[in-house]
Amino acid sequence: MSALSHLFDPNSPTPARIAPSVLDADFGRLAAEIAAVEDGGCEVIHLDVMDGHFVPNLSIGVPVVAAVQKNSKCFLDAHLMIAEPRRYAAAFAKAGAHSLTFHAETVAPADREKLIGHIRGLGCRVGIALNPATPADAVFDTIPLVDIILVMTVWPGFGGQKFIADCLPKIEAIAKRLRHGQWLQVDGGINLDTARVAAAAGANSLVAGSAIYRSGDAREAFRQLQHAAREAQSGGGPRQR
Ligand code: DX5
Ligand code: ZN
Repeated sequence: MSALSHLFDPNSPTPARIAPSVLDADFGRLAAEIAAVEDGGCEVIHLDVMDGHFVPNLSIGVPVVAAVQKNSKCFLDAHLMIAEPRRYAAAFAKAGAHSLTFHAETVAPADREKLIGHIRGLGCRVGIALNPATPADAVFDTIPLVDIILVMTVWPGFGGQKFIADCLPKIEAIAKRLRHGQWLQVDGGINLDTARVAAAAGANSLVAGSAIYRSGDAREAFRQLQHAAREAQSGGGPRQR
């Protein structure tokens, strides 16, 4: 059994984990930027892949995932903001991604099961992501088939945007359908306040980019965010809406 299999434990609730997005890290010293959060207890690194088609921006690709894999023991969670996830899935799996999350908007419901099977065949966990305008019921049939459901709380493409609170009912609706061992991931605009709000709504995986890598102290920012999310998850701490 892999050293990372506890991250998807089917027998108990998933403790909230922060998944730092390295999009806002200093790419000239990426290994050190990742080591900083790993030193703070980080187990999951979120890798934002963009193609300039599905989103109006370009970011990291296969070689960077391979470089991260060589320099980190973390679970590598690849968020594929790309129009053709099927076409590139094998390359990202080979580079060392542990999970591949494709966007619901890029794959028709009838084609999802096949893609999910393909990704599993590559040895990866599978996720499905929803843009802010995509309703929860667009993925209800897919939820039982995947490991990760990612709710975007900003429009994908750029770090540093403001959390869209209108997405909270969607997080709550999906949380009701979650079984142990699945991640309900929230991505976009996570800071100490919104981490609490998202975790209280049922998220157990929170992506944070700018709140960590523009903070000046990535390790400490990671620790505070994870503490806040876990406190809110267990019903403690201030609940803000
Ligand atoms: C947006 C990406 C996010 C983003 C997170 O397209 O999917 O992962 O970089 O960055 P922050 O936390 O700054 O919103
Ligand atoms: Zn992302």
